[in-house]
Amino acid sequence: MRKLLLAVAAAALVLAPVVAQAQTPIVIKFSHVVANDTPKGKGALKFKELAENYTDGKVKVEVYPNSTLYKDKEEIEALQLGSVHMLAPSTAKFAPLGIKEFEALDLPWLFKDDQTYSSAIKGTIGKWLFQKLETKGITGLAYWDNGFHMVSSNRPLIKPTDFQGLKFRISGSKVADQYFRLVGTIPQIMAFSEVYQALQTGVVDGCENTASNYLTQKFYEVQKDITVSYHAHLQYAVIVNSKFWSGLPPDIRTQLDKAMAEASDYTNSIARQENEDALAEIKKTGKTNLHYLTDADRKAWQDAMQPTYKWAKGRVGQEVLDLVAKELD
Ligand code: LMR
Repeated sequence: MRKLLLAVAAAALVLAPVVAQAQTPIVIKFSHVVANDTPKGKGALKFKELAENYTDGKVKVEVYPNSTLYKDKEEIEALQLGSVHMLAPSTAKFAPLGIKEFEALDLPWLFKDDQTYSSAIKGTIGKWLFQKLETKGITGLAYWDNGFHMVSSNRPLIKPTDFQGLKFRISGSKVADQYFRLVGTIPQIMAFSEVYQALQTGVVDGCENTASNYLTQKFYEVQKDITVSYHAHLQYAVIVNSKFWSGLPPDIRTQLDKAMAEASDYTNSIARQENEDALAEIKKTGKTNLHYLTDADRKAWQDAMQPTYKWAKGRVGQEVLDLVAKELD
């Protein structure tokens, strides 16, 4: 009996770590910089819900919105170090990794509408850009949409000359730097979490962003005039630390891939409406003036910003420009 008890106790000791391990959920830290109530914020929460369901609680997804864990540049470094596992930065923010090609997607007036963007990103270009990440220890899982940028300042921006001399916050892309320089602004890269205060205190005079970001960050409170220009597109790459992702048990990863595919379809399906609703909300507050471009105004912006395309060859290279052009044919 004593022997039997000892054997049972020994077996329990051997099994304990295995059982404990099986009960400990795998934690995925998902950090991003926008509010929960935006297309990306909702997408991250949808992924959490589906991932936890499909893995029967074997995975726990911790979502950190609004730069609560990391700001723009820090989050990419943290991903490479493995301190965070999943991010969804805008594709304007990959230059610090030494990958400039994503910035081709920031070219002004590149996608004529949502449909053109979404079919282009599903093509070769989307996969080709993800391959660039692999050498950096990062795996791209999906692209998430957030519609088109507007611009704002404390004066109406209708003609290209209206931009002259304004300090403009940009999120990271040198392509955006270039098109804003061409209309006479002084662009400055700044983390997203610092924009509200910078606009409020006059560190910068203006910025670009989508309606959902203007609303949830309250930029409309500190910008008297917003032009619904839709001059460039904002999209995100959902990325993971490759070592972490490939080290997951295969059955778990299959479920997570499924959760990500569904969360991506969901996010991309709500982006347009979310931004339309956000624009209506902003209008309702009455705190800012909304302006719209006539065809002639738009043509003047396009002409002024057009040299960005030639300039971009030296920045992103011809190969990616050709790939983008192919998708738009
Ligand atoms: C910005 O920094 O303006 C945006 O990229 C923020 C975001 O993630 O939408």
